[in-house]
Amino acid sequence: IYFDGRTEASLRDDPMIQEAATMLRTGKLVAFPTETVYGLGANAADETAVQSIFTAKGRPADNPLIVHFADEAAAIGWILEMPENGHRLASAFWPGPLTLIVEHLGTLAPAVTAGLPTVGVRVPAHPIAQALLSQARVPVAAPSANRSGKPSPTQAEHVWKDLNGRIHGLIDGGHSGVGVESTVVDVTGPVPLLLRPGGVTLEQMRQVVGSVAVDPGLQGVAIPRSPGVKYRHYAPQGEMWVVIGNGEALVKKMQSMADDGRARGYTVGILTTEEHRNRYRADYVLTCGSRSNPASVARYLFDTLRRFDELGVEWIIAEGFEEEGLFDSVMNRLSKAAEGQVIDLGEGDI
Ligand code: TXA
Ligand code: MG
Repeated sequence: IYFDGRTEASLRDDPMIQEAATMLRTGKLVAFPTETVYGLGANAADETAVQSIFTAKGRPADNPLIVHFADEAAAIGWILEMPENGHRLASAFWPGPLTLIVEHLGTLAPAVTAGLPTVGVRVPAHPIAQALLSQARVPVAAPSANRSGKPSPTQAEHVWKDLNGRIHGLIDGGHSGVGVESTVVDVTGPVPLLLRPGGVTLEQMRQVVGSVAVDPGLQGVAIPRSPGVKYRHYAPQGEMWVVIGNGEALVKKMQSMADDGRARGYTVGILTTEEHRNRYRADYVLTCGSRSNPASVARYLFDTLRRFDELGVEWIIAEGFEEEGLFDSVMNRLSKAAEGQVIDLGEGDI
């Protein structure tokens, strides 16, 4: 299905959206765009359909899926309750890049929640996702539509490359938009707990509910509460390092690491931003957004990581960022892609 930028209202009656909705209802796998990344959808009440998501992705069975609904009201029938903090966050950010962890009623397919008493619920903002969910009229389990471990797909082409032959349908909606996945927040306790940084920032959520705690597992000092967070993720094929710093010190350190890789005979790629795009020498220098615009970096991050694979880059040196606002989400993805190989130059270092 190809999407040409139409409104949700006109999409709802589209025969192809209807066909995709029917496929979902009848247990088939359909990949579709959301405003964060592409999702791989299946009927969340159909155990066999949900199992086939895990098979298609090669995803570990203990990593639960997010369930997507057209609106908050549609989610209510499947969950025990929507806590007050959850409702406030939902009112502020749905439809949008936010997933709330709440207790479920036990009526979803068991594989969705990997045996947990809780489920992640999300109302995506993309017009195609909205039209599809309202027509499917079933809860739709949808992880990111990549093979497990690979960068999440921001374009239909990425889904095609990863899952061609393993799924029944794919809706092409162009570039997804936000570029990083939804923020995952557990709202079952008295204080909301951030489990995965994403499209909605900590600062934005604190404006709505006051305090939001951060899962210590995100800083690597405990086992992450969100099962998916512990797996290798977003990883390009090459060996990767991330360098956090500023100005000349950053450029100098990045370049010396790139030179080191080249001296060892590797094909070396540098991931930089508009600000430093002309400062490096390497086999490939790829630009991902601008430091002055965190949303632009988030938007193209996964595209750029995938591009390094296409170019056969074996050694990747990436500029990192201070963990604030959307850069918190960007750094979370970068450090996972680099398997924790992050060098922080600190202030005035070098
Ligand atoms: O933006 C997104 O969230 C995308 C689009 C397609 O909606 N979906 C997505 O799904 O990123 P996935 O499966 O790739 O990531 C879901 C994350 C995983 O880290 C998973 O462990 C966590 O949410 N999660 C799901 N259910 C959970 C639960 N009950 N408790 C804790 N974490 C949970
Ligand atoms: Mg994923």
